[in-house]
Amino acid sequence: MKTINFAVLGCGKIGTRHAEKLNGTDYVKLVAVCDIVPERALALSEKYVCRPYFGMDDLLKDPSVDFVNICTPSGLHAEHTIRCLNAGKNVLCEKPMALTLKDAKRMVETAKANNKLLYVVQQNRYNPPVKLAKQLIKERKMGEPIMCIVNMLWNRDDEYYKNDSWRGTLALDGGTIYTQASHFIDLMLMFMGKPKSLYSLMGTKNHSIEIEDTGVISVEFKNGSFGSVSYTTCATKKNFEGSVTLVFSRGTIKIGGEYLNTIDYFSVDGFDSYQLEETDSLANDYGTYRGSMSNHDKIFKDIIEKQNNPDKPTNLVFDEDAFQTIEFIETALNSARTGKVVIF
Ligand SMILES: NC(=O)c1ccc[n+]([C@@H]2O[C@H](COP(=O)([O-])OP(=O)(O)OC[C@H]3O[C@@H](n4cnc5c(N)ncnc54)[C@H](O)[C@@H]3O)[C@@H](O)[C@H]2O)c1
Repeated sequence: MKTINFAVLGCGKIGTRHAEKLNGTDYVKLVAVCDIVPERALALSEKYVCRPYFGMDDLLKDPSVDFVNICTPSGLHAEHTIRCLNAGKNVLCEKPMALTLKDAKRMVETAKANNKLLYVVQQNRYNPPVKLAKQLIKERKMGEPIMCIVNMLWNRDDEYYKNDSWRGTLALDGGTIYTQASHFIDLMLMFMGKPKSLYSLMGTKNHSIEIEDTGVISVEFKNGSFGSVSYTTCATKKNFEGSVTLVFSRGTIKIGGEYLNTIDYFSVDGFDSYQLEETDSLANDYGTYRGSMSNHDKIFKDIIEKQNNPDKPTNLVFDEDAFQTIEFIETALNSARTGKVVIF
């Protein structure tokens, strides 16, 4: 099997995780890292024995790089992705893909124009409970969709927003709905299909930041089912709940745990029990807070799989599947600003 050469652009918290997981995965090789803060690039390049770059122009001239993993602040994803694609590189872009639908679509169009691959990190799709629910829905064991309830009641303290200057800014962070809730919205859309209309309320309730930290969204899907998303980073002291509850005509499942890693409730007609796939993944641990499941190695494995077996289904997220989350978020922000129900 051919080894794919990766470079990591942005050597901060998640870039470090990409480097670590690339290092432990077969048939992928970390050949370069790049950060405008030289000591961050140097630290990773020394640890994983690869080339350090301190600016994108130099990275993009490196002919050995097949894929660039975009791990820079969210508001830079579109510009960085498009520059990589135009330079002939494939891209794995961290979530959120972009902060506007226009940018997300431009990214997909640029990939197509250059005949390059563009995948977006939505690593919760690899969580065993998520895979189980997706399979049961696909096999029509759950019956007809009725409702999906998303609760993301997380904690991000003032230090979180102060430690990195881009966090909490409109231009580079975009808001809690982009930075944290997008993980959950991606899953809701995967389970329930295309949205028809929504109404939302959003506000900045308990942080001194430019963006909203709390919101509620009511959705109707094209198939007639309903959804709700309640999200906040104002839960006290630590993450309290992150859950997706699916109510279908023949099954109810609540996916919960600290990072969507457990089934908290399971009742599906014809099933006395269920079997979860084994996993060695834990939550991304950033010291003062914990994020989503660290499944990045599974994305790298799927990229290898796709290269060798293009027709085999994977959990990779690309094209419309990728930008539908951004479209949903932009529509929810629009509803919150106008106070109106917005039709898709
Ligand atoms: N999938 C997940 O669970 C997950 C988890 C954490 C972060 N993320 C996403 O990853 C992105 C980065 O988040 P983070 O927490 O690692 O942030 P971070 O601030 O820790 O790291 C960002 C890095 O990018 C570097 N950078 C900025 N501009 C650059 C440029 N022009 N060229 C090269 N490097 C540049 C910064 O110096 C910094 O080292 C965000 O979009 C975030 O939403 C995803």
